[in-house]
Order: sequence, then C-alpha cells, then structure tokens
Amino acid sequence: MYVCMNILLLGSGGREHAFAWKITQSPLCEKLFVATGNAGTAQIAENVPIKPTDFPALASFCREKNIQMLVVGNEEPLVAGIWDFFKQQKDLTHIHLIAPSKEGARLEGSKNFAKQLMFEYQIPTASYHSFGVEDFEKAITYIYNHSLPIVLKADGLAAGKGVLICPTYSQAEKALKEMLLDKKFGKASEKIVIEQFLEGTELSVFVLTDGKNYKILPEAKDYKRIGEKDTGLNTGGMGAVSPVPFADTAFMQKVEQKIIIPTLQALQKKNIAYVGFLFIGLMKVGNEPYVIEFNCRMGDPETQVVLPRIENDLVELLLATATQKLDTIELKIKPETAVTTIVVSAGYPETYEIGKEIKHLEKVENALIFHAGTKLENNQLLTNGGRVMAFTVLAKTLPEAIEKSQKAAESVFFENKYFRRDIGKDLF
Ligand code: AMP
Ligand code: GLY
Repeated sequence: MYVCMNILLLGSGGREHAFAWKITQSPLCEKLFVATGNAGTAQIAENVPIKPTDFPALASFCREKNIQMLVVGNEEPLVAGIWDFFKQQKDLTHIHLIAPSKEGARLEGSKNFAKQLMFEYQIPTASYHSFGVEDFEKAITYIYNHSLPIVLKADGLAAGKGVLICPTYSQAEKALKEMLLDKKFGKASEKIVIEQFLEGTELSVFVLTDGKNYKILPEAKDYKRIGEKDTGLNTGGMGAVSPVPFADTAFMQKVEQKIIIPTLQALQKKNIAYVGFLFIGLMKVGNEPYVIEFNCRMGDPETQVVLPRIENDLVELLLATATQKLDTIELKIKPETAVTTIVVSAGYPETYEIGKEIKHLEKVENALIFHAGTKLENNQLLTNGGRVMAFTVLAKTLPEAIEKSQKAAESVFFENKYFRRDIGKDLF
C-alpha cells in the first residue's frame, strides 16, 4: 500500500476548506498544508503564507516539507501554468500533481479557445464569433444583426465579472466599447466572444480525469445572483444543492455522451495533458445540454455540496488520478441531498466591510461549517471577505436539508450579515 503523504493544497475559499476537511479524513494524509488558507483550514491543517501563483516559493516549500501531492483549488495558478512549472523541476517529478497543464487550463483561461474546441469537436454550445480590437467595426455590425438578448464575454479571466448579458443593442454596443476599446478587464478583454443567449436551467457537472479514465462526480446547482429569486448582481455563488432533481439519468447520459466524452477525447487528440477536475457549466435547454463554460477546477460553493456526498477516501481518489488508475476505483455517492447556504458581508459583491467579529458558531447544529473569508486575530474570529462561510447540511430530503442549512446560517452572528433564504426552493 501507499505510505502517508504530506499534501499541499492551494487556495483560500470555502472550496478549499471543504477540500481540507475531506483530505484530512484520509489515512493517506500525513500532514496537510494550505496556501494561503483561512481560519477554517487553520483548524485542521497548517496555513502557509505563500501566494498560489508564486511558483518558485511553492517549489522551495515542497522541497523543504517533502510534499508528495499538490492539489490546486483555484484557477489562477492553473491558468498561469503551475503544472508546466512543476514538470520542469527535475527534483520534484515525484510530486503527484492534481492540476491540468497550462494548455488544458485554457479551457477556462480563454473563452475563445474553449469555443473553438467545442466547434471543432461538435460539442453543443451557443453559436458565437470572436473579435479583437482590430475587428471593432465588424463586431458592431455582428451585434446589430444578432437576436436579443446578446451575450458578450471577455476572453480571459475576469474574476467572474467578464460576462455581460445585454438586453438591448445600445447596451451591447456600450459593453463592447468598454471591453474592447477601453480594455475594461485589461489583457482579458483584448479579445471578446459574442454569443447567442441560451434560455434554460443551469447546472454544474464535475468530472475528475487522469487523462485516460474519468469519473463523473455528483452534479450541483449554484445560486449565482445576490438577490432572492435570482435577482441582482452576479456573485461567486450564494448557495448550492446536490443532487439536482432535473438532472435525471437520461439527461446525465446525454451530458456524458455529447459533452464529457467528446471533450476528454478532444484533449487527448490535441495532446493536451489534463489531470484533475473539469467543471462544466451547462444550460439545460428543453431536454438538451449545452455548454456555457468550462472551468479547470472545482466550483465554489459547489464543492461544499459535492465532496460531502462522496463516500470514497478523497486522497485515494486523487492518488489514482495522478497515477492514471482511476479505472480501479468505484465511486460511491451518498443518496442524501446536500444543501449549502453562504453567509456574506452586506454590500457584497460590491463594497463591504471586513473585520467584524463572528459569534455563535457553537450554536450551529448538525451542519458542516466551511470558512471562506475569515481570519483569526488575537483569538477572535473575524470576517475577512465578501463570502464569509458556508453551512452544508446532508439530509434524506431536499426540504429537510434546506431547512437545516438555513437554520445554521441564521444561528451565526456578525454585523451586516446577509444570506439568501431561497436556496433550493425552486427545485421542489
Ligand atoms: P460564466 O462566467 O461564463 O459562468 O457566465 C456567467 C453567467 O452568465 C452564467 O452562469 C450564465 O448564467 C450566464 N450566461 C453565460 N453565457 C450565457 C449564454 N450563452 N446564455 C445564457 N446565459 C449565459
Ligand atoms: N460557482 C461557480 C464557480 O466556482 O465558478
């Protein structure tokens, strides 16, 4: 059997606390380090003050602490090429990397790349056209000849703010100018994708692949808007549910046949190294799945409902992934429903205050608490971000899981706390 490993996890959100929670349950984990982590990960692992994009510092740390597995939670290091960097460190090739290559991470890092790949391999997605600054006039003509609403996307990473759904031509023209000419998102909007609006219901599907074999993890529904009934600004995610009742077996088979298999085959045919998580943002249009976006990592807050439903030892699963032995593992999924409710600082996703004391966590019953924007200062637990923490409950039924998750979110106290009270209620 394998010996215990020292593991390094990158990221600092609720997703990473959920990963840390699951990793530290494994007998294969000797010690877990998290860069940079939060007050929640500090309770179960050792936080390390190294930025996940500071590759030389991470490599030195891996040498010093004899790290044997590196798990990347957030997209920035992946898109910046952490896999390629570690592959070049000849003394670190023994480290099991759970990370796609820089080329593979372009599925998330470049919307144009993802769209091209989908069209080349006939993977269902919205029709589109890409434009650079030099094509500004052509883009205007394209917009005015397109149906409404029309979707504009910055090609690169834009911290979740790079997608604009424009209900009128003048709004689309304004957005186009801001992105392409004024470089609103810097390099990320030097190129833009203009695409057809898809009308339907969204869900997130997750695949773990070793480059040869794959496992489909539990699907989830994310609640992206700040306001109840899906109103107001887009956020990182205000809550999540898994399983998703409308993603029945027949639908998930279509997802596998029409999207998952062709996407993984496309990566193989293009010789793109991809070991790790693939997150497929889908729109169910009628009964058909269409890809809205790919991400090269797990979702946040979806991870907070996906991992609690997985019975397997996560480190064993990741080790099988890194060693191309995923076919030897049988994935065991709990039939229960998981619901997570995120409590945020009022004002998020725009301006908000941090440094508020978090109280009454001891009153939270029967819920998993995953920290996101928190820090410990002089023994006081303080808010340190927009999304503060997630309360996940597993229960036999969806209504029960919702009620308990809401109750947990209610119990905790900090000044200017806000959370959505309708997570999952549209699914009854
Ligand atoms: P993304 O950053 O690509 O996840 O897009 C943010 C959100 O915009 C998605 O979660 C969808 O709700 C919405 N969206 C993106 N593309 C489309 C589309 N083609 N049609 C309808 N909604 C879209
Ligand atoms: N919850 C959406 C994301 O992680 O991108």
